[in-house]
Amino acid sequence: MAIETATPASIARAAKALADGELVAFPTETVYGLGADATNADAVARVYEVKGRPRFNPLIAHVSNREMADVHGEFDLTATALADAFWPGPLTVVLPRRGVSRICDLVSAGLDTIAVRVPSGEVAQDLLHAANCPIAAPSANRAGHVSPTTAQHVADDLGADVNIILDGGATAHGLESTVIDCSGPQPLLLRPGVISRTEIEGVLGRKLGKPLQNNQPASPGQLASHYAPNTKVRLNAHDVLPGEALLAFGKNTPETNGPCINLSPSGDLREAAIGFFSALRTLDTTGCETIAVMPIPDEGLGEAINDRLLRAAAPR
Ligand code: TXA
Ligand code: MG
Repeated sequence: MAIETATPASIARAAKALADGELVAFPTETVYGLGADATNADAVARVYEVKGRPRFNPLIAHVSNREMADVHGEFDLTATALADAFWPGPLTVVLPRRGVSRICDLVSAGLDTIAVRVPSGEVAQDLLHAANCPIAAPSANRAGHVSPTTAQHVADDLGADVNIILDGGATAHGLESTVIDCSGPQPLLLRPGVISRTEIEGVLGRKLGKPLQNNQPASPGQLASHYAPNTKVRLNAHDVLPGEALLAFGKNTPETNGPCINLSPSGDLREAAIGFFSALRTLDTTGCETIAVMPIPDEGLGEAINDRLLRAAAPR
């Protein structure tokens, strides 16, 4: 494994590695992805292996633009409106798969749908252009662990199993893309993410549905325990107990002598999202028994942060 600063030369090497069936971790505007050529089944299989990811949890295919997305998925009016509004950017749409797509079945984990996204991150875009293939990429962490927002996070989690880690600094948003299922009659919010429900409903002029828990196609990534640090997590904390670290938000934080990170002293949810995964990782290394987390408002980006927190706190 080598962490390489993203430059035209290292991006060209990374593109060659993808063509050779190797794995490349790269930054997007959301989190770092663990990328493989989506048309190479062996390489995609290695992504599942390296992550320790259950085979039933499908991957997102990253493409450089809408035209490339059209090759792989069928856009209806809803998907078109969302792509027009938010691409390139932190939005993933789940579409019926097109027969002509050469993306291997393993990417969709056997479903007849495909998740596609056009990232806006500059390194991701440069890599997609240089590689000239769809890149299947889950977040570049061990399955179930905290998502990586820096190249070092990737190295800590996956180390020697990745051929190249392109370093483009800390990611802009710090949280994953919003996943919308556009394959059925009503668009469904499969995963809250950087783009809020309100923004999406504003563009569509209608409410988003919720996937039924035991109904297909649910988003299999939405397992109860996920995004989890090794340390226990206690939510809605208004105080700090002995032996606890504090993940704070806003002004009125409880007193503590223990480790404490404030996601945003001014109460800004965007700032909180950017530092969120990194803060969980840092507090996870303090040796504390539990991470106490102050309440985060459940509006805008807060919905996505609270979604991750609930999973981080879920029984393992
Ligand atoms: O921001 C992001 O989306 C990052 C960056 C790297 O692009 N990627 C990411 O991938 O978070 P991953 O694999 O950690 O999460 C993908 C989510 C999972 O919840 C998965 O179940 C869902 O998308 N998904 C993928 N394909 C699907 C499909 N065909 N139907 C339903 N859900 C799907
Ligand atoms: Mg993930």
